[in-house]
Amino acid sequence: MQILSDRQSMVTLLAKIQDYRKRSLHLQQALRKNPSSWGRYQSEFNQELNGVFRDLMVYVQTMESKGKAVNVERLKLLFVEKLRKYFIHGDYVAHSLKKPRGYAGDYQIIDAIYQNNPRTVGYDRLFDNYFQMSAVSIAVRNRKDDFKKIILNVAANKKGPIRVLNLASGPAREIHEALKSPVLKDRDIFFDCVEQDQGAIDFAKCLIDDPERTRFIKQNVSRIALKANIESTMKDRYDLIYSTGLFDYLDYRLSLRLIRNLKRLLKPDGVLAISDVRDRFTNPSIFFMEWVGDWNLLYRDDDTFRGIFMDAGFDEQNLISLYEQQGLFQYVIASDAPTQATKPLDRIQLHDRDVIEAFQGSGRSIFQII
Ligand SMILES: C[S@@+](CC[C@H](N)C(=O)[O-])C[C@H]1O[C@@H](n2cnc3c(N)ncnc32)[C@H](O)[C@@H]1O
Repeated sequence: MQILSDRQSMVTLLAKIQDYRKRSLHLQQALRKNPSSWGRYQSEFNQELNGVFRDLMVYVQTMESKGKAVNVERLKLLFVEKLRKYFIHGDYVAHSLKKPRGYAGDYQIIDAIYQNNPRTVGYDRLFDNYFQMSAVSIAVRNRKDDFKKIILNVAANKKGPIRVLNLASGPAREIHEALKSPVLKDRDIFFDCVEQDQGAIDFAKCLIDDPERTRFIKQNVSRIALKANIESTMKDRYDLIYSTGLFDYLDYRLSLRLIRNLKRLLKPDGVLAISDVRDRFTNPSIFFMEWVGDWNLLYRDDDTFRGIFMDAGFDEQNLISLYEQQGLFQYVIASDAPTQATKPLDRIQLHDRDVIEAFQGSGRSIFQII
């Protein structure tokens, strides 16, 4: 009885994908004749694709809750080998799968998400729009805005020179935008950006074009994580150390060692702000990302992520958890001095409506924190 019902849900899911295929052939035909008319079909297309990936998530959740992960593995194999090809359209999915820089989540795709400016037409455009409007792409844009605001608020609350360390800086678009803000005009602020990919460094240097206030260091962050005596190799101390889109790929051991060493590079009142993806099923785009785009992340629940900071030596009462507006990403803000950690946020409430809005979607609102 049980076996039949599992099989039934698999059959229903495959039938849904079959329906999508049939519909997609019609759409492709119509859009070949009139490639600019994609807008007429976008909403219906989104609903169809959302339906497929929602049902896929329900199937996986159900199987995993029954301890039948093997069924999920079998389905994934079938999907990747036989069905994925029907979902590979548009520039972004192709880039994600091809990984031209050798790894997922490179600066080109991240900055394409920031720019949100698809240029394809026809059936490809339906996919490119779908990619840009997927929950995870929206979350990536929100995260960039949230961290820009964190930079501005740390700066607004400090007197004198400010030194910032950004790990895995990618396109560094939040720095580009922050430096244009009146908050940083005439401020003595300096950014050190650590990044492994020379292409990302070249791109960010060109985008920011401010060598007096930025320095790019080509390095793998694991070298910072694994250094036994980090204080002696890295002499600078920072008011703010932050990282977005890096810990999503780091396992517990490397995350722990990195956070432990970053703690040592903070000024006494410095703040460490790290973003991480939350548990898998909070991401509605997960199967589009993983099974179609082969873009895999390490998902962590909130307590596990906070636990890494505590294991690294931070006191729990000096940790603040904030959330990206849709709840896809979590941010931990850590400091060695609780009053100093919350001080930048204190000023947010008083002086910066933008930042209040940025954190309004968070599980623990800024008004509760202070
Ligand atoms: C998803 S992007 C995020 C970029 C940027 N932080 C942002 O949020 O816009 C990840 C970036 O991290 C870099 N990266 C990944 N692993 C790294 C490592 N071990 N050391 C240094 N950089 C790394 C990649 O080259 C890429 O530019």
